[in-house]
Amino acid sequence: MMSSYRFRLIFPLSLIVLLVLASLGAILGPFFKEFYLERMSDRIEKESAAVVYHLQDINLNDEEFLQNTIVELADRLDVRITIIAGNGEVLAESTTDPKELDNHINRSEIQSVIHGENENGRETRYSATVGKELLYFAIPLENEEGDGGFLRLGLEMEELNSIYQNIWTLLFVSFFIAFLIILILASKLTNQMVKPIEDARRVATELAKGNFNARTFEGANLETGELNRSINVLAENLEQITQTYENQQERLETLIENMGSGLILINTKGDITLVNRKCNDIFEEDTEEWKNKLYYKVIKHKKIIKFIQELFLTEKPTRKQLKLDVGIHFRHFDVHGAPIIGYDEKLKGIVIVFLNITELKKLEQARKDFVANVSHELKTPVTSLKGFTETLLDGAMDDEKLRKQFLTIIANESERLEGLIYDLLELSKIEGAHFQLDWQNISLDSIVDEVFFMLNDKAKVKNMKLSKKVVGSTNIVGDPHRIKQIIINLINNAIAYTPEDGSITVRIKEQNEAVLFEVEDTGIGMSKKEIPRVFERFYRVDRARSRNSGGTGLGLAIVKHLAEAHHAKLSVDSIVGKGTTFRLMFYKQQREAGNDKEG
Ligand SMILES: Nc1ncnc2c1ncn2[C@@H]1O[C@H](COP(=O)(O)OP(=O)(O)OP(=O)(O)O)[C@@H](O)[C@H]1O
Ligand SMILES: [Mg+2]
Repeated sequence: MMSSYRFRLIFPLSLIVLLVLASLGAILGPFFKEFYLERMSDRIEKESAAVVYHLQDINLNDEEFLQNTIVELADRLDVRITIIAGNGEVLAESTTDPKELDNHINRSEIQSVIHGENENGRETRYSATVGKELLYFAIPLENEEGDGGFLRLGLEMEELNSIYQNIWTLLFVSFFIAFLIILILASKLTNQMVKPIEDARRVATELAKGNFNARTFEGANLETGELNRSINVLAENLEQITQTYENQQERLETLIENMGSGLILINTKGDITLVNRKCNDIFEEDTEEWKNKLYYKVIKHKKIIKFIQELFLTEKPTRKQLKLDVGIHFRHFDVHGAPIIGYDEKLKGIVIVFLNITELKKLEQARKDFVANVSHELKTPVTSLKGFTETLLDGAMDDEKLRKQFLTIIANESERLEGLIYDLLELSKIEGAHFQLDWQNISLDSIVDEVFFMLNDKAKVKNMKLSKKVVGSTNIVGDPHRIKQIIINLINNAIAYTPEDGSITVRIKEQNEAVLFEVEDTGIGMSKKEIPRVFERFYRVDRARSRNSGGTGLGLAIVKHLAEAHHAKLSVDSIVGKGTTFRLMFYKQQREAGNDKEG
């Protein structure tokens, strides 16, 4: 395409040059020819004069001498010489024997001398004698006798023709060289002119294709340089604009794909134009398939379809909480819908955002449960306190025996109430945002000894044996007060949920980076299903039995929180009727929070 551009420039130019050269040749050729002919005539005229001068002293009648002289002269001048008598008889001839020649009076060059005004004749004609074309030149000869004769010189035209040919060759060759030079110069010039334009065109094509990195060479040429500079500025601007656009697009895409909520766009025809990745999780199906399909054909939840229909009808932003059953679960969603209105105030579609609030709902439920549980747990001791106090006031306080019995019950119930309130306070403190451990180097072994000392009496009542097995160092970092709290809770449970004559074993084993702590009992145990639940607040495996043991179900919840605060791993092994083992892995060194997530 570009070469054609160059061709279009060079082709007419070479045509013009050719035309000019051809017409120049047409003028110069004949001109040179004429010029040369003139020179030849001049020469022949002068040579004739020389011959005439030479013949002045010669007797024309001495034929042999004349013939010899003519031959010699002709040889020197390189012409044909003929001496013709006034009557036309040939007296001497340089090329042949004059006697063989016929009368020459009627030769036109002689005739023109006879009749001519210039006294000489000229003629180009084929000579049978020589067998070539000759240019004849004749002049009158005057001798002493006064009878006129003629001198005729003949010049071979062949020579002239070859000179003509030379002239033409010379002209042709020089014109050809000139043409070549002009062509080379012209193509160089056009190259110089065309290249920046070609460059600009190439870049423009690249830009049109979307390659905004393309740049042209600006060059020094004023006009084209200006053009190319402008194109480069244009390309740069385009690049920047697309870059910004791409960045924004990318940002938007990342935002849409990674937002915590599901997002669906529907156009006015009802086709789903966009579904983000989150929708996959929300609806537990391949929502990619939904794209470009009618919403009521692919969305299975009637509540959502109704919500969308309402949105199309009202064209007003709406918000609703929907409970959907997805798979086997119920899920709660906060659904926001809004119309998309274009600049022309026309509806372009709608956008719907699904926020999964199942966890929130669960938390809400947990809070409600917690309040109900707390009230329930508080109600029992308070009712009993109130009942016994009223009975005392109603007269029982006068009876010493009853009074003592009731007051003991009141004291026990208050203690239980106090314990419950203490546990609740502890729990809220541990769960609180500002809870901090007092990290120290401690020995698990000595803490266990302290706890054994504290709980020895309690174990003795049930005729239980408390034993301890230690392997290696038991030194860890931790909050001594909280670790003691953990151990008290675990051993207390072991005592509480083990029948009389059972045994409780505490094992402490040093490992590479950690110290393993175990409390094993030979108690009632619990089923696999119960294990994760016993760490919930107020959870008791068998409420009636546990109530008898005096528990409220907060102990293990506290243990779990404290273990987490220490980054310790907590696990339970239990067989119903055989016994239970609570296991804790304490790290010897303090760990960065977040390093223990795998448990
Ligand atoms: N060693 C154990 N053997 C068998 N069951 C246990 C054991 N430890 C705990 N449990 C079960 O787990 C439940 C929750 O224990 P948790 O310590 O949290 O509460 P609790 O002992 O009932 O009351 P408290 O708040 O006074 O400790 C208990 O009610 C009991 O059913
Ligand atoms: Mg307990």
